[in-house]
Amino acid sequence: MFKGVKILGTGSYLPEKVVTNFDLEKIVETSDEWIRTRTGIEERRISRDDEPTSEIAAKAAEEALKVAGVDAKDLDLIIVATICPDQTFPNTACHVQKRIGASPTAMCFSMEAACTGFVYALETATAMLRSGYHKKALIIGAEEMSKLVDWEDRSTCVLFGDGAGAMVLEATDDVNDCALVASSMHANGNYTDILEIPAGGTLQPITPELIESKANCLRMEGQAVFKLAVTSMVRACKKVLKDANLTIDDIKWLVPHQANMRIISAVGKGLGIETEKVFVNVNKYANTSSATVPIALDEIAKSDLVKGGDYVLTVAFGAGLTWGAALIKW
Ligand code: COA
Repeated sequence: MFKGVKILGTGSYLPEKVVTNFDLEKIVETSDEWIRTRTGIEERRISRDDEPTSEIAAKAAEEALKVAGVDAKDLDLIIVATICPDQTFPNTACHVQKRIGASPTAMCFSMEAACTGFVYALETATAMLRSGYHKKALIIGAEEMSKLVDWEDRSTCVLFGDGAGAMVLEATDDVNDCALVASSMHANGNYTDILEIPAGGTLQPITPELIESKANCLRMEGQAVFKLAVTSMVRACKKVLKDANLTIDDIKWLVPHQANMRIISAVGKGLGIETEKVFVNVNKYANTSSATVPIALDEIAKSDLVKGGDYVLTVAFGAGLTWGAALIKW
């Protein structure tokens, strides 16, 4: 009954439009120097108005399916981690299902765990495949943060970008062969208000006044988020290594959520891992929320920087607060 789980392929997609820090200097009172020194970000991709999250998610998915050699019609599970859904409902995974021509009977749902979304999806899909109830899963992290930020708020709009990453997983008969070796997933709802979109849901239904005050846009207490992010991510990684009976020296790549170079460095330092083993692309894409981890995994896979049997430690942190670490045996 219980199964193993294999990674068959990855894919990613970044919208074409590049917006540099210098471009942002023309929109808000900021500077390339401020953004680079505080965050490590140099540029980000921004989606078109007529390019919804499901479209970039589908492009990443199609690439992952091609690499995996899997026909979309054979998928029986699609999970899209996103806080930028196409619509409140139906869920974005259903839109992706339609776009990629996946089996019209697959189970499809979206997961709203902010930047931790993809590692939550990896844990969830793995459990569903291991149970034997599902055979082939597509998991995606896809976000269009540019459509959630207040483009007049320099403290947040410079930090985010748009993008999507995908992974195809398959259940195998060898129960001892599982790509997800160990994981540590958490949330603390006492911090719902330090990183949020205050209005637009049932808590504060949208009104013209709330739109006027930009309460329908992302708000964040940057420094509080920073401190909690570092301590939580380091703790989750240490737990996962302990559970897997490994040390940080066994890890080929640490793939942290790409929110900010200073957070990434602090997590690397907290774990005592060599800088060369910490994957970084936040300079190119900024914080694409749940998409940062799968985009990074796809870049690693494409550049032949990882081979079968290597350990890749992913870790993420986001609104909720949510956080989690997932140790992958490639
Ligand atoms: N350009 C120029 N100045 C800016 C600016 C920008 N884009 N954004 C903020 N500032 C200003 C502030 O107004 C403030 O000015 P003041 O001192 O005159 O009031 C000054 O810079 C310092 O602001 P502060 O918020 O204290 O900066 P910081 O050192 O905490 O850095 C962050 C801000 C957002 C980069 C930092 O807090 C951070 O990285 N937080 C984590 C954010 C994150 O990654 N969240 C996502 C997690 S999933």
